[in-house]
Amino acid sequence: MSTKTIYLDRNENNYGPAPACFAVLKNADLSDLSWYDRSFTSGIKSILSARIARDTGVDESRVLLGYGAENILKQTVQCYLRKDAKLLVPAYSWWYYKLIASEVGGVSVEYPLTIGRDRFCYDLQGMMEVYRREKPAMVFVSTPNNPTGNALALPDLKRVLATFNDAIVVMDEAYAYHGTVDYIKDLVDALPNLLIVRTFSKYYALAGMRIGFAFMGANLTALSQYINRYLGYHRLSEEVALAALDSPEYYREITGYMTEDKEAYYAELGSIPGWRVFKSEANFILTEIPFRDKEPLQAFLKERGLILKFMNEPLLNSHIRITLGTREENRMVIDAIKAYYAGEHA
Ligand SMILES: Cc1ncc(COP(=O)(O)O)c(C=O)c1O
Repeated sequence: MSTKTIYLDRNENNYGPAPACFAVLKNADLSDLSWYDRSFTSGIKSILSARIARDTGVDESRVLLGYGAENILKQTVQCYLRKDAKLLVPAYSWWYYKLIASEVGGVSVEYPLTIGRDRFCYDLQGMMEVYRREKPAMVFVSTPNNPTGNALALPDLKRVLATFNDAIVVMDEAYAYHGTVDYIKDLVDALPNLLIVRTFSKYYALAGMRIGFAFMGANLTALSQYINRYLGYHRLSEEVALAALDSPEYYREITGYMTEDKEAYYAELGSIPGWRVFKSEANFILTEIPFRDKEPLQAFLKERGLILKFMNEPLLNSHIRITLGTREENRMVIDAIKAYYAGEHA
């Protein structure tokens, strides 16, 4: 039995960052720590935002950086959501959205997601109806969504975003699973009130570096002023992030392993009587299990050093969200759950 604790409860990436990221830290120039960044002398905000701008074709003035996506989301709400104004959020979504709305006296209103046989789906009609009825100041769309794992297909996304034109729309793409950036410029050019938020935490396995980035439509200049750091960003983090961007093969390879392992989860956990495993476009999967198994299974896994996210939310109360770990960790989780049902807990 394993004694080492394996955390698969916060959607981190247990493969770790690309080797080139470690090389940056090993070879770091200590003067980077004592001096503010001087990128402005070359006419750019920072080496990282300039690089992200180049990779996406978005003008650097429209690329924002923050202390994780978390920080960008909070600052956006603080900048635009007034007291008693409404923020629309998906019915099943990251709890943090409601928290940041409540911190400024805003009111969160949920829009529906439907539950199909093997996946959650955005309900486009439902979203638009809630939008028309509630007249929100802001709308959050999370794709892929945490904790349900479903994403909005690009044509649907464009259609629905275009109808929200009186609100500020924040598209949280923290779980952009394949690191693709090809549609970003078109979207932010077409939709002046749109903010697309991404992070180095998940796909790039750099959660501990706290680097978020975002792309803004032309109307959001107030946000860019609010978020801007006149003394620069975290110089080492930026260099580590650049090394990650320079390591596409590494990230393609580990994402490939996780994609294959998802299939093992669907097949092997999906065949346990009473279990449902929802298809996911992210680095985690959501499962629904018999309620009576929740506590004993959690204890059984914990004893084996396996920490999964057993959900305790009103709508998701007999569910486990499992972060995809390394191949070895995923096998341990599946085998431990099977062992539980094979009666080892009796
Ligand atoms: C949907 C969603 N958005 C944003 C974040 C925060 O990411 P970051 O680490 O960049 O702050 C998380 C973290 O789990 C998340 O689940």
